Amino acid sequence: MSSGSSFSPPRGMRDFYPEEMAAQNVILRTWRSVSESFGFEEYDACIVENLDLLKRKSGEDIVKQIYAFEDKSGRELALRPEMTPTLARMIAARQGALAMPLKWYTIAQCFRYERMTRGRRREHYQWNMDIVGEPSVSAEAEVITAVCAALSRLGLSPTDFVVRINDRALVAAVLASLGVDAAYHATMFLVLDKRDKTDDLAALLDNANLPPDAVQAVDQLAALRSLDDVARLIGEDAAPIQSLRELIKLLELSGLTKSVAFDMSVVRGLDYYTGIVFEGNDAKADMRAIFGGGRYDNLLKAVGGKPASGVGLGFGDVVIHDLLADKNLLPGAAPVLDVAIGYMGIEQRSIATGIASTMRAAGSSVDLGLHPEKAKQFFSRVGNGRARQAIFLGPDDLAAGEYRIKNLEDRTEKVVPFSALSPSD
Ligand code: HAM
Repeated sequence: MSSGSSFSPPRGMRDFYPEEMAAQNVILRTWRSVSESFGFEEYDACIVENLDLLKRKSGEDIVKQIYAFEDKSGRELALRPEMTPTLARMIAARQGALAMPLKWYTIAQCFRYERMTRGRRREHYQWNMDIVGEPSVSAEAEVITAVCAALSRLGLSPTDFVVRINDRALVAAVLASLGVDAAYHATMFLVLDKRDKTDDLAALLDNANLPPDAVQAVDQLAALRSLDDVARLIGEDAAPIQSLRELIKLLELSGLTKSVAFDMSVVRGLDYYTGIVFEGNDAKADMRAIFGGGRYDNLLKAVGGKPASGVGLGFGDVVIHDLLADKNLLPGAAPVLDVAIGYMGIEQRSIATGIASTMRAAGSSVDLGLHPEKAKQFFSRVGNGRARQAIFLGPDDLAAGEYRIKNLEDRTEKVVPFSALSPSD
């Protein structure tokens, strides 16, 4: 229900005014250019998804947050809270025809009815990169390297953020060695995921209904600080130890030593992850995750496809925006125009239009005045960094058959005859 006569956006949804859009576009353009420079192909789908698919394939926490509705024919639909179930359904539908492994990316607007905290809204844009059909850790190495390249292109240094990696299979092996029955592992993953996000650990454990040995294991797990600690407990030959060591080596080869760390507390809240999982945070860790992802081995089969392993991540626009804004790394204004054109009287509008048309056809970005204005007004409108050059036409220019193009950065001026605009010249 609307709260009154002033129409604000619905709670948690965002408007982007032009200066905010300029900052937003820096993020979106970086995501796109990094995806393409790493050889990912773009895909997309509708924001509206079948509720049933999302209910069955999204994580338990996300399901509670779905914006669902019925269409006029009684179909149960929803605004997607994430892209992964949609990706799985799209790949399953054409699996035979797609060359594996595939590397796909998208920038998806997602909706979750979340409690609003710093870095969380009810609508966000999420960059997804997924590799499907590659069982080796090269897939994890590729998406993590790409995401670090994006953070670096956005202006962050390797010590500004940390990618914390773990493996759910490793956590399961540790839980087994601590005597926690496999029946409790899924609940343990949820508890471990929420552990750092809650102020009331006791209540969280209470609600989870875990046996005492499992409750004890929560602390024992947190005490395991390094991969060597874990290897001592479950053996160096354990498969998850081997794959994490291999991944860390590949990431080191890509020069990411400073940004990557093993962290036993990372398990991720989504049910479909089966192997290596990872999360990116700002180094001070005073914000929620910048991005998160992992390996999902069973999702394709679960949506009717052939078994195929996938690895991917989701990276939202909200936390990174706040982080970049804190570090003054976002522009505060719309992009600078090549030329702004204004005119004193309606008589000069035709020639102004001709100049704009010629310059636009030559590839320049041009703002053409919509009505006559005084020179002072024009220059104060376009002079404060909005345009690099300006042309202001008055009756004298018309009489002389030439116009002056002023460089607003160094204040120099060039005179150009109108004849230069003629296509036959
Ligand atoms: P997720 O951890 O639920 O994973 O979300 C990924 C990222 O999306 C988060 O780290 C955060 O940047 C952003 N995000 C999520 N919810 C919100 C929100 N309410 N407000 C602002 N930003 C948000 C997934 O969604 C997985 N589907 C990612 C994935 C792709 N795994 C494999 N492929």
